[in-house]
Amino acid sequence: MSTMPANLKAPSDASRLPMTLPRLAEMKRLGEPIVMVTAYDYPSAQVAQAAAVDMVLVGDSGAMTVLGYASTVPVSTEEMLMLAAAVRRGLNTPLLVGDLPFGSYEAGDPQAIATAQRFVKEAGCDAVKLERGGTSVQRARAIVEAGIPVMGHVGLTPQTATALGGYRAQGRTARRALTVARDALALQEAGCFSIVFEAIPAAVAAMVTKRLTIPVIGIGAGPSTDGQVLVFHDLLGIYDGRTPKFVKRFAEVREQMIAGVAQYAAEVRAGTFPGPEHGYPIDEEELQLFGKELDAQA
Ligand code: KIV
Repeated sequence: MSTMPANLKAPSDASRLPMTLPRLAEMKRLGEPIVMVTAYDYPSAQVAQAAAVDMVLVGDSGAMTVLGYASTVPVSTEEMLMLAAAVRRGLNTPLLVGDLPFGSYEAGDPQAIATAQRFVKEAGCDAVKLERGGTSVQRARAIVEAGIPVMGHVGLTPQTATALGGYRAQGRTARRALTVARDALALQEAGCFSIVFEAIPAAVAAMVTKRLTIPVIGIGAGPSTDGQVLVFHDLLGIYDGRTPKFVKRFAEVREQMIAGVAQYAAEVRAGTFPGPEHGYPIDEEELQLFGKELDAQA
């Protein structure tokens, strides 16, 4: 097992304050990179907490990574709320953002506000995220006006990937890059505190990031955004599905999990687990007595 070099150690819990929106804005101003990771349950939240990330996203990517759906589209609000509440129980300091699932906010402002309120009231999220520009700009404005911070998401928006022609990079022509820029500026103007840029050419992301006053968190958008986000299961090598080009694997946890469970199975089959050290003793006299009583009852 690797140990972390001292200069890469996360600050201790005691010295860390909860992340706030003004602090995120300040990080952009000061050019301090913002770190966001997804989490979907109590242990992954505890890992994110211990690793001292700045923000945690309960992404609807959990539909695929932990619930086994083929895309993010089928996941329900109830399922997302259950994941988000579990993450909340494992987090103290990072800002917690809940992803509004497909179909839970697009119909109109009242629907968007009601769903966002559930993420705050029932799951303890600090903020919510929604996808796309267009009509989502007005939904974002309505949620912000209802007092809930909103993160936007432009570029490749998986909830509407079919309409985008599939899971492919966006903004690769001047016209399409302008659409990304306009959507991002409109979301900022609607009051979003931050925006995710997904699968956008690095040069386009760099130019748009400079024009925005709110922090841009990139995933497949190059190094010039104000921060980065990756899916927990992708970066740790837990997920067996296809991973996009922009993912870097920082560990191969799935292999270790398979090796651990296979070793357990082998030891059970060989009769070497459990050993005496995994059991509870009983006094010999008590055991004799028990044996006699049992025989008498049989
Ligand atoms: O659902 C998710 O994990 C996301 C990130 C990729 C930004 O939206």
